[in-house]
Amino acid sequence: MIDITDRVRNKALQSKIVSAEEAAGYFKEGMNVAMSGFTASAYVKAVPLALAERMKKEPFTINVWTGASTGPELDDTLAAVHGIKKRLPYQTDKILRNEINDGTVDYLDLHLSESAQLGRYGYLGDIDVAVVEACAITEEGNLIPTTSLGNTPSYVQQAKKVIVEVNVSQPLDLEGMHDVYVPLDPPNRLPIPIVKADDRIGTPYIPCTPDKILYIVPCDIKDHTRSLSAIDENSKKMAKHTLDFLNKEIAAGRMPKNLLPLQSGVGNVANAVLAGFVDSDMTDLTVYTEVIQDAMLDLIDAGKLNFASGTAFSPSPEGLDRFYKDVKKYKKHLLIRPEEISNNPEVVRRLGVIAMNTAIEVDIYGNVNSTHICGTKMMNGIGGSGDFARNAYLTIFYTPSTAKDGKISSVVPFCSHIDHTEHDVDIIITEQGVADLRGLAPRERALEVINKCSHPDYRPMLLDYFNRATEQTKKAHTPHILEEAFSFHERFLETGTMKK
Ligand code: COA
Repeated sequence: MIDITDRVRNKALQSKIVSAEEAAGYFKEGMNVAMSGFTASAYVKAVPLALAERMKKEPFTINVWTGASTGPELDDTLAAVHGIKKRLPYQTDKILRNEINDGTVDYLDLHLSESAQLGRYGYLGDIDVAVVEACAITEEGNLIPTTSLGNTPSYVQQAKKVIVEVNVSQPLDLEGMHDVYVPLDPPNRLPIPIVKADDRIGTPYIPCTPDKILYIVPCDIKDHTRSLSAIDENSKKMAKHTLDFLNKEIAAGRMPKNLLPLQSGVGNVANAVLAGFVDSDMTDLTVYTEVIQDAMLDLIDAGKLNFASGTAFSPSPEGLDRFYKDVKKYKKHLLIRPEEISNNPEVVRRLGVIAMNTAIEVDIYGNVNSTHICGTKMMNGIGGSGDFARNAYLTIFYTPSTAKDGKISSVVPFCSHIDHTEHDVDIIITEQGVADLRGLAPRERALEVINKCSHPDYRPMLLDYFNRATEQTKKAHTPHILEEAFSFHERFLETGTMKK
């Protein structure tokens, strides 16, 4: 077995070190199991792998709560053996997505900032056991976290028992990079005293006690982070539109020269937009976000980013190696918080965050669908996009104007599912341009979105819809022809393209 005795600093606790197989024997049908992990960072690996092996021989299901998506050793492996009954609050795994969309798994797609608190309220049941990754366990039994925090502090607080995976692939230098704070629930909640991205308000460890720890499992499997694809032309254009737009905001006196704290969503587009800042002349930037991606390391190296606060360090495999080589340097610029705090509406509103997230589709009035394909099939989930979109100072959504080689228009008459309403969305950016919806009434917004953001192949169809809807409703506040509102989607489902 891997030697972790130097990382289990409480000598008495060393007697609880067992193999992943032994720990996997503890789980029973129907248990609520809270696991650490936010993106493919700091998720537990050895225990779910061993649990899946057990489930192959003796099938049963558990309910899995995490911080957000995880890596393949958790979601992929457990879904592949049909071991998950209920899953929350976010996921991105292909096998799990299929099981969510074929009725095998019940999925609770939650605002991430709220998910720990929903757990604490109790109607989802108790947490039977929390399985969490740690870098080390202190003399007092507290847990030193690794590359993400997510919901782990609240889950540990709430769980009846805790199984700790001590992962030796995670450098001990990570200690000190975290700020753990779990708010009290109403009516006892106090203001969260963060007024700057680098403010510390909690402890550098997850509070826990030796008696709560059931088992300690050694693990040496690295975070299986995802590669980023090369930045494509559309993403480069969206990055340029963003910088041009923000420069105009600075010139108009609506933002300081170093902007306001940036939040950027998951995925390639978000990373590409941030990468655009590296070649800009912006300096002294700060980030108050959910996931810290590769482009933020580039910005630190370029001397342009002073500080980034997030709940997960979610780099590509190359980004992770780069970080591990220089943890001490990057640590001065990075802080990891629970997602209840990184995404907290109170803090996001106070700091005046610039929220930059990606949409699946937008409609002509500015509603945004981040989650569902053609209104019914779950893609990933809302994640933190709603936490930031509703509360940010400036809310930007990105999407290429078309998907699937032009067969789908990402600008549609009416979103087939709405995660962010027209009231939450300030700016829409596609490779075609920037729609600034601030201060516009619905009919003005429609022309702005169609003319600035839609693809020329679909623009005449969208204008035709809008003009006829305006005429038929005699200039109603938000003109729609209800029987045609989803005609783009219907045509795609019937013919394989939204084009006529
Ligand atoms: N209709 C059907 N499919 C569409 C589509 C549309 N209108 N728009 C995009 N897609 C498909 C793409 O073709 C692609 O499919 P593929 O995986 O088969 O190639 C897939 O959706 C992902 O699109 P992509 O353009 O690669 O974007 P992305 O990786 O940036 O992801 C979201 C976009 C919206 C799925 C992703 O950002 C997400 O899950 N967001 C919600 C959560 C969130 O915003 N979190 C951040 C909060 S801090």
